[in-house]
Amino acid sequence: MSGADAKKERAILAYSGGLDTSVCIKWLTEKYGLEVIAVVGDVGQEHDGLEAIKAKALATGAAECLVVDMRQTFADEYLSAALAANAMYENKYPLVSALSRPLICKHLVDAAHKLGARYIAHGCTGKGNDQVRFESSILMLDPSLEIIAPVRDWDLDSREAEMAWAAEHGIDVPATNASPYSIDDNLWGRAIECGVLEDPWIEPPSDIYTMICDPQDAPDEPAYVTISFKQGIPCAIDGEPMSYLEAIYAMNEKAGAHGFGRIDMVENRLVGVKSRECYECPGALSIIAAHKALEDVCLERNVLHHKLALEQTWAECVYNGQWFSPLKEALDAFMAHTQQCVTGEVKLKLYKGSCTVVGRASDYSLYAFELATYSAEDEFDQQAAKGFIDLHALSCKVWAQNRLAMGADMHQFARVANTTCEFDGGMGSAAA
Ligand code: ARG
Repeated sequence: MSGADAKKERAILAYSGGLDTSVCIKWLTEKYGLEVIAVVGDVGQEHDGLEAIKAKALATGAAECLVVDMRQTFADEYLSAALAANAMYENKYPLVSALSRPLICKHLVDAAHKLGARYIAHGCTGKGNDQVRFESSILMLDPSLEIIAPVRDWDLDSREAEMAWAAEHGIDVPATNASPYSIDDNLWGRAIECGVLEDPWIEPPSDIYTMICDPQDAPDEPAYVTISFKQGIPCAIDGEPMSYLEAIYAMNEKAGAHGFGRIDMVENRLVGVKSRECYECPGALSIIAAHKALEDVCLERNVLHHKLALEQTWAECVYNGQWFSPLKEALDAFMAHTQQCVTGEVKLKLYKGSCTVVGRASDYSLYAFELATYSAEDEFDQQAAKGFIDLHALSCKVWAQNRLAMGADMHQFARVANTTCEFDGGMGSAAA
């Protein structure tokens, strides 16, 4: 878009109070001649006061700044769907940032409608996932809105150039010794990247973590925590009834105090880049662990097995910015259906960086002692197993008979597994 045709039009900006989005305010007003309405979403991130963030937005040139407490909805609509899907991208990352973006976008689009804005702006760079999530979500909510991504578009080619531009334009620039990391956090955890973490060989300095103590310094005595679930959602901790939002806060505290929930991984971004990411998700990981343990006893085998596959799809879908897509909607319907009987209690043991499920109980439990036991109370019909196995293995037995009749060596597969890899990349054998 050109600066001229946008004069006096309004833009809604997703604002955090940080340097990037502050520069965005000036950039949008000065370069594009837009009136900027900043929207700050409280999704449970650490902050030194939302009023101070609002004051900064106004001082930097925003015409208005809306501060919205999104925490209850974030827990009840977004984190509950994530829990139903036990959502973990690449089996490790519980989607912290990916989950907050669509909710923030909903508020941005609402603000655009209420205030008659044609543009929505965000402060994401051009090489991350968040730009995809913001823009995909906004376009799915209202395809007529236009998106501006100043950080991606501007010709400030480095952090230094950005700071210099900010200082020239009277924006409060953090001291040069400010955190070298890029951080995004909310109720579901905290993401830390950049700085020394860009070398995947370097161990993350312990001080990057603020929610979780160093496991070495955690108490020498284990702590036991019982989480009660009603239809898949935590409803009490150690017998004390509470909302899901309160349970997330409580588990962030409890698991964090025992050093549990740190993640150090190299992940595949949607834009094709592998990036080293550290996370701390004490509440998310402990609640998901408990939830999965309850599902283990409450869900019938075939449902559980299909669900495991669909959980991966759900996580990828949300990671890739498809929160409002029809696929995600259909997957949610499946997940919600499975949660009807996920009611019961799970006992966790927290100890020096670990969180272990040590007990589970439910009125809907399908665990049958009399079928499982090897004691005298055994009611399982062992004789029925014989015929079951005959039929279960029948098709493969017919196959094996055919191959033997053709003179095949039935041990060849074992040998194939033992051959060395043909392609060694010119580096010699792996042992060298
Ligand atoms: N890699 C994570 C994701 O794509 C976290 C991104 C967090 N953003 C940040 N500014 N640190 O969901």
